[in-house]
Amino acid sequence: MPCRIRFRITWSACRATVKPGHSTRHCEVCALNVEGAPIPTNASSLAVLRRLGPYLRPVWLPVTGAAGATFGALLCGLGIPLVVQRVIDGPLGSGDFGRLPWLIALVAVLGTAEAGLLWARRKLIARPTALVESRMRADLFAHLLRLPVAFHDRWQSGQLMSRAVNDLVTLRKYLAFAAVFLVVNSLTLVVGLGILFTIAPELALVGLISAAPLLLITYFYETSYKKVARRAQDQSGDLTTIVEETMLGTRVIRAFGRSGERTRQFVAQARRLRSTELRIVRILGGLSTGLLILPELGIAGQLAVGGWGIADGRLTLGQLVAAITISTYLRWPTECIGWALSETSTAAAACDRYWEIRDCPPTVTDPARPVSPARPARGRLRFEDVHFQYPDQPRPLLRGVDLEVRPGETMALVGATGSGKTTLASLVPRLADVTAGRVTVDGVDVRDIPLAELRAMMGCAFEDALLSSASVRENVALGVPAASDADIRAALRVAGAEGFVDALRPHGPGTRIGERGMSLSGGQRQRLALARAVLPRPALLVLDDPLSALDLHTEAEVERALREVLRDATALVVAHRPNTARMADRVAVLADGRVLAVGTHQELLDSCPHYRTLMATPGEPGAERTAGAGPRLDSEAVTP
Ligand SMILES: Nc1ncnc2c1ncn2[C@@H]1O[C@H](COP(=O)(O)OP(=O)(O)O)[C@@H](O)[C@H]1O
Ligand SMILES: [Mg+2]
Repeated sequence: MPCRIRFRITWSACRATVKPGHSTRHCEVCALNVEGAPIPTNASSLAVLRRLGPYLRPVWLPVTGAAGATFGALLCGLGIPLVVQRVIDGPLGSGDFGRLPWLIALVAVLGTAEAGLLWARRKLIARPTALVESRMRADLFAHLLRLPVAFHDRWQSGQLMSRAVNDLVTLRKYLAFAAVFLVVNSLTLVVGLGILFTIAPELALVGLISAAPLLLITYFYETSYKKVARRAQDQSGDLTTIVEETMLGTRVIRAFGRSGERTRQFVAQARRLRSTELRIVRILGGLSTGLLILPELGIAGQLAVGGWGIADGRLTLGQLVAAITISTYLRWPTECIGWALSETSTAAAACDRYWEIRDCPPTVTDPARPVSPARPARGRLRFEDVHFQYPDQPRPLLRGVDLEVRPGETMALVGATGSGKTTLASLVPRLADVTAGRVTVDGVDVRDIPLAELRAMMGCAFEDALLSSASVRENVALGVPAASDADIRAALRVAGAEGFVDALRPHGPGTRIGERGMSLSGGQRQRLALARAVLPRPALLVLDDPLSALDLHTEAEVERALREVLRDATALVVAHRPNTARMADRVAVLADGRVLAVGTHQELLDSCPHYRTLMATPGEPGAERTAGAGPRLDSEAVTP
């Protein structure tokens, strides 16, 4: 598969080929991610994790407390060999058993304290790390909602989901376990070696020499581990995407008999992930073998040197036993440091992936100097020399659109498929911003109006009537959560939805509808989306083909009710059918990135050949074509 990432950014294809197993989310040759941002590959794990600072600062006290408790527990553990030395060299060596019960009691106290402190660590660390995770997740979610719609077109939702869920779980676990153990075990190692030096310097030196190669090994493994960990996380995101797309598109996939193909894709992706994970296991295997062998060799060396020392009379048996016990005790912190370092790499990769999204700037933002249009809004909508280009398209889609929709007027927008009607309509609620020119409401540039105010002024319904798995009432009241039942009923009536909503079982308007409203028909979903748009009785309505999925009878019914609403509002209605166009006061014809002509339906029929062609062209396959409904205007066959 060729790499498309650089192509998307610079329009020149990268020569790299995305190897099977490499994520399509970023190109390792371009070293760019899908946003065109460099992939952070060389930054040290510590530098990456330092970015967690603002989240950790508020919880530093319990985290430090947990680290302190862990350190205390390890010190208690380290104290036990010292007591053992006293037992061997004292009561056992001299035959004076008077102190023995006290020393045994001390071992019991140290053991109990160790267990108690480890329990305290768990208690202390759970809440703050869960808090860090939930705050980071909330910030990521809020950021995703601030990012432009175009961002969501570029990123697979599986990748975003795996960042919001898996990566943050990885980070929480890291903070709760590995990070604390890394710090504490490093300290324990220093303290343990210190004690070893005071007991028997030559045995400590043997231990130190045997541990030195560990630093080299861990550095070598950490570098290669980090890359593979990142790849595994990306591949896990790709796998989530396949599952999500398959579940959402399950009807289409089954209807076209692609279930087998999808399963093969899923299995292939799962295999890629498995082979990456096996690579991780191999790397970790090498690392842990090194971590196991070296301390064992160290202990063997200490036994040899210690035995020689006892024979020479330089060391006591108690010293040797204590030194060996401490070295054995230090094996766990040493192994744990290796594990914690690999976890650090995984956490750093997760952190990278998190900030990759957080670093994307929201381009549609609130104005620095907000201007509010006069109240009540009149709803005069103007497009002034509007240009718009999608970032990954080679040429602008809109190239100088001039159009005025007068207060209270209904303007239909017609044009061939792909002429940019949906795009033009989306510029009004600022789902995207113009690349040149401006869109004004009552004379104020929409970019100068606070976003919340702008969106409260208007009601929008889009082609894909997206509903969420909530009750019908909640779906309709999306923009006005405090709407009364009477208002919701009135909106449902306008959208011709009252009848079928009342008939929903078991709770009428309180009935929950399935995910994305898939338990309803296309026409029913569209009517609910329309009710949602008209509920606030906005001054401005932007409706993208609101009647396309309705049958003839319902369309006539909705049209009649819609006329009532349109009388009080300024409306831009993307229309695909002559009936809708006829309903409008004027019609604007969009072609070749511009408004080709504006006039009433009849005027345009008389004067605009392109409009006549649009009207005369037979509808797309699948469109309802009856004498009453007329052909769909939106047709691939029409060339401007
Ligand atoms: N998110 C997007 N990213 C890149 N190109 C897009 C995107 N959305 C639409 N386009 C392009 O813009 C053209 C116009 O799309 P659209 O405004 O939906 O047309 P219409 O509603 O008139 O059918 C399409 O041909 C498509 O290629
Ligand atoms: Mg469209």
